[in-house]
Amino acid sequence: MAQIIDGKLISKQIKDELKGKVESLKSEGKEVCLAVIQVGCDPASTVYVGNKKKACEYIGIKSIAYELPEETTEEELLGIISKLNNDDNVHGILVQLPVPKHINEEHIINAISPAKDVDGFHPASVGALSIGKKGFVSCTPAGIIQLLKRSGIEIEGKDCVVIGRSNIVGKPMAMLLLRENGTVTVCHSKTKNLKEVCKRADILVVAIGKPKMIDASYVKEGATVIDVGIHRNENGKLCGDVDYDAVEPVAGAITPVPGGVGPMTIAMLMNNCVEAVL
Ligand code: GUN
Repeated sequence: MAQIIDGKLISKQIKDELKGKVESLKSEGKEVCLAVIQVGCDPASTVYVGNKKKACEYIGIKSIAYELPEETTEEELLGIISKLNNDDNVHGILVQLPVPKHINEEHIINAISPAKDVDGFHPASVGALSIGKKGFVSCTPAGIIQLLKRSGIEIEGKDCVVIGRSNIVGKPMAMLLLRENGTVTVCHSKTKNLKEVCKRADILVVAIGKPKMIDASYVKEGATVIDVGIHRNENGKLCGDVDYDAVEPVAGAITPVPGGVGPMTIAMLMNNCVEAVL
């Protein structure tokens, strides 16, 4: 039986710890504030933004919501970001992605002050991570490190395999595992012998975006398997990139979907907001 890594529970612990910190900041007269900007009304984004607002409420972080119409121009959005960058009462700025096609995502990410970049997407934040300097770290990979640490899973000296090389998950995940002294391999769509590489992993992080692609034949006996994927099947049921029922008997520890990595992303966003004040 694999150890089930309970992201719901661990994210609650983190949020409760943050609640205490936010309270003590309040008693010093500092109110943590996050600005959340959504352009257009993509339904998935609306759900994510709603969850972020709820987490802010739970912890006691003030959230300012900008619900902008689809037709908002890049200049208008850049103007709002500039105003928020210069507002000392705002500590974190988040523009929900994707933005509509007529807006250049890179221009938006680059416009957010690195000091308020609670998503950790700005090139300065990414660069700081890669050279081991202080800076905001992308929330999903940061959450995975917390899941491992708080579940008593050692990273140092372990063979870590990350499948996926996105800027938001795969690449920062590799950097963080390296920072924890793991031996890291990054796999992607052009990787040869994917199965053999995965089978060497003590810690396997899967962020491919293909439902149930990883079965037991990819997993070493006793390995820790972290599933970043989230998909909805024909019956409306959620599943990950890992075939949970097939892999769980082989793994030493595994994250479920839902209730694994997902809740950690928001917990780490909240953590970054608090860090932005400290
Ligand atoms: N869209 C999907 N995930 C994210 C995220 O973590 N941050 C932002 N800003 N947009 C997203």
